[in-house]
Amino acid sequence: MRRMLNELTGITLQERGREMIYNRLGRRLRQLKLDGFAAYIQLVEKDSEEARTFAEALTTNTTHFFREEHHFDYVSDVLVPDWLKNRSQDKRVRIWSAACSSGEEPYTLAMVLQESRLRSAGFDTRILATDIDRATLEKARMGTYPAEGMGTVTPERMKRWFKRGVGTRAGQARVAPELKQMITFNPLNLMNPWPVKGPFDLILCRNVFIYFSPEVTADLTLRFSEVLRPGGILMLGHSESMVAGSTRFDSVGKTIYRRRAS
Ligand SMILES: C[S@@+](CC[C@H](N)C(=O)[O-])C[C@H]1O[C@@H](n2cnc3c(N)ncnc32)[C@H](O)[C@@H]1O
Repeated sequence: MRRMLNELTGITLQERGREMIYNRLGRRLRQLKLDGFAAYIQLVEKDSEEARTFAEALTTNTTHFFREEHHFDYVSDVLVPDWLKNRSQDKRVRIWSAACSSGEEPYTLAMVLQESRLRSAGFDTRILATDIDRATLEKARMGTYPAEGMGTVTPERMKRWFKRGVGTRAGQARVAPELKQMITFNPLNLMNPWPVKGPFDLILCRNVFIYFSPEVTADLTLRFSEVLRPGGILMLGHSESMVAGSTRFDSVGKTIYRRRAS
């Protein structure tokens, strides 16, 4: 199971992941009326649709709005002023949220960017948001969240960027169309070739490296450097750091890295 998960997603499960595998896949085995994990492995090996279900069951999608807020402060306090100052000729800003889960990360970015002066200055700002997990990506596309889980969004922002549901939708908050329009959601497995050209000004790949081996992380870091503009920024999650591949980046803040010019 661990080998297969690693091949499909790059995720390296520790020994303590065993219990998690049993918990998460037990229900699937019962649904399929299979009597053991050996039979399930055989099925995953020959059925690509089941391989996807398997990978999705074992990915961890935890996220929330304004998670690791210092990254969004860096966008509004450092990157936006830099773009406004230095990009008067090329007003295209391209951002990639590379493991976006259910969308809170790209929608947070969209809020911060919409609140900035980029739009009135005529910038064309777009966010590509991708994840391996299609079910969670569908939630991201819908952009509807239980309001009670949105404590990290200020009341002012709730009012400005979300519409509260009524009737059967009471308790739900729906993202404003202005935010949705900035984002393209696509499935993408980071382990496979990327159908993205870039160059990106900013890439967020947060809280996914922790599941990968150092080799996979080093390879991905290199590949990110190839689709970032010189001077572009890569943001990682709070417990992640760049070890290998760092010759292409300078550290410019807490888990914030700038791609070197050459
Ligand atoms: C813990 S969430 C992080 C979400 C968000 N970036 C954040 O920091 O709040 C990790 C995400 O990585 C995705 N993921 C895991 N393996 C992946 C892979 N090989 N390619 C793309 N996404 C992957 C999972 O589906 C999950 O949504």
